[in-house]
Amino acid sequence: MLQSHERIFCALDTTDVSEAVQLSKNLKGYVGGVKLGLEFFMANGADGFKQVADTEIPIFLDLKFHDIPNTVAGAIRAVAPLAPKILTIHTQGGSEMMRRAQETAIEEADKHGLEKPWVVGVTILTSLDENDIGATGIEGAVPTAVERLAKLASTNSLDGVVCSPMEITLLRETISEDFKLVVPGIRPAGSAVGDQKRVLTPKEAVDNGADILVIGRPITQAPDPIKAAQKIAEGLA
Ligand code: C5P
Repeated sequence: MLQSHERIFCALDTTDVSEAVQLSKNLKGYVGGVKLGLEFFMANGADGFKQVADTEIPIFLDLKFHDIPNTVAGAIRAVAPLAPKILTIHTQGGSEMMRRAQETAIEEADKHGLEKPWVVGVTILTSLDENDIGATGIEGAVPTAVERLAKLASTNSLDGVVCSPMEITLLRETISEDFKLVVPGIRPAGSAVGDQKRVLTPKEAVDNGADILVIGRPITQAPDPIKAAQKIAEGLA
């Protein structure tokens, strides 16, 4: 069972290594970890990642791999020595890609004597609505497509999926309890929603069955990020 603060991963949406390192130093012990995405990794690569990892904060490496199975396996081999706590791949890469990704994560963790990262699938990007997915040939409502892809991820041994707050209940009802739900779009009561359209509070999300909450600006833009993180964790206890 995770402690309240361990459920919070703070999204560091920046390309600035010193800012990411400073925030990680400050937040260590107050959150479960930080999330570094494509923006940070494209700008700073493995070296930037290592500087953040040197603070000893767990890292969610959100690079959303999507390619043929062999290439995704190669990408996972390449990032495995960095020891991310969580990494992401697209479920739309298909069953074999997901299986190979998980097998490779297990093999590499064994090889390097590291803890295996959670391999988590992205289903339908929340920037897409029913019209958008229809135009790409995916028919039906977004939740239906999300549920189908999440089930496929579960069948093909992924550790969990990233999902929107609105999909937590549906996925909890249909997929096994130990399947991790990693959830962005979280806003503490009273905080600015920004560009997020469908939000839940941290407590609502965890009560509905979220495992990990990805929270960016409500922490990073707060006058005191440590206090903001502490308050969120207290609200979950
Ligand atoms: O600042 P905020 O809390 O909105 O940050 C949320 C983080 O989660 C960002 O890194 C954003 O890219 C990511 N994310 C999201 N919605 C998704 C998937 C990822 O907001 N569906």
